[in-house]
Amino acid sequence: MANTRTSRKVAVVGVGGVGMGCAYSILNQGLVDEMVLIDVAGDKADGEARDLMDGVTYAPENCKVYHGDYSDCKDAQMVIITAGINQKPGQSRLELVGTNAKIMRSIVKEVMGSGFDGNLVIVSNPVDVLTYVAWDESGLPQNRVIGTGTSLDSTRLRMQLSNKTGVDAHDISAYIVGEHGDSEQPLWSQATIGGKPLMDWIEDGDEGVIKKDELEDIRKTVRDAAYYIIDRKKITNWGIGLSTARLVRAILENEHAILTTSAYFNGEYGLKDIYTGIPAIVGENGVERIVEMHITDEEMAGLHKSASELKEVLDSVRE
Ligand code: NAD
Ligand code: LAC
Repeated sequence: MANTRTSRKVAVVGVGGVGMGCAYSILNQGLVDEMVLIDVAGDKADGEARDLMDGVTYAPENCKVYHGDYSDCKDAQMVIITAGINQKPGQSRLELVGTNAKIMRSIVKEVMGSGFDGNLVIVSNPVDVLTYVAWDESGLPQNRVIGTGTSLDSTRLRMQLSNKTGVDAHDISAYIVGEHGDSEQPLWSQATIGGKPLMDWIEDGDEGVIKKDELEDIRKTVRDAAYYIIDRKKITNWGIGLSTARLVRAILENEHAILTTSAYFNGEYGLKDIYTGIPAIVGENGVERIVEMHITDEEMAGLHKSASELKEVLDSVRE
């Protein structure tokens, strides 16, 4: 049968560790036909594109990878922004906001100036605040500007639960919501292992499964995962590369997948005019809908506290 797939093009802005983690994952999963790399460091982007192209015959699909400029965003279905400064050891994501908000506005201006009319995916930190800034600058509908949010934190949580229980992480559903950062909130009440609520596993005292007092250690391990990695290798990039590729696939293949993206709130969970991490249904138009779950009062308070910290930081960079 003839291949009827329409051509898929993405642009990746920022070819540092994170941009290339995203680009490599996207290429290696055969998600696109064309990928343009853009960076103020033009030679680096050129070198990275050539390097990826050298391996294309071993990727699952053909793909044209090249170094370009913002005019190349015009006909892209998606622009992924990873440009900006990253954390030094001990520094929080929120401390990056002043510099990265300026970089984000300047990039989005250029992207929109090309005539781009696709989905914007924001990865740079602090991702929740920068997703709002990108939306504000772009003039695009809120659903088409999407942050990677707590997708990385949620997969980290699933891995921790898997390590503790010995159950395959693919059979575990567990979400972190709120800031992708220090004030994030796990939704223990919604976590399931093979469909059985985590709290029931604990109550029933099932063999080999976590005890209630271990949850706090897991929460801290997940919250501090980036600090652990940055102390050792200066950056994090592979986990976010795979998380971003998952989001890219959900959008390009119109999957209606539930992912913890940074989505715009319009009254859901009692929150308004903020982007933060929440399970949402994602398809070709970006965020279709935030999923409203019956979370506990404690979880709701944690989500609201996280959102109000983000609002304060956002207010400091509003234009
Ligand atoms: P890096 O320093 O390796 O790369 C950043 C790249 O951005 C560089 O190539 C630089 O030239 C480019 N850049 C800077 N200003 C630019 C501009 N105005 N236009 C175009 N390109 C520009 O940094 P990194 O480790 O790749 O991290 C990038 C960002 O991703 C950081 O903000 C980091 O905190 C964030 N990050 C987010 C997540 C997440 O889960 N959302 C995970 C990891 C890292
Ligand atoms: C992370 C980055 C640093 O790996 O946000 O969580």
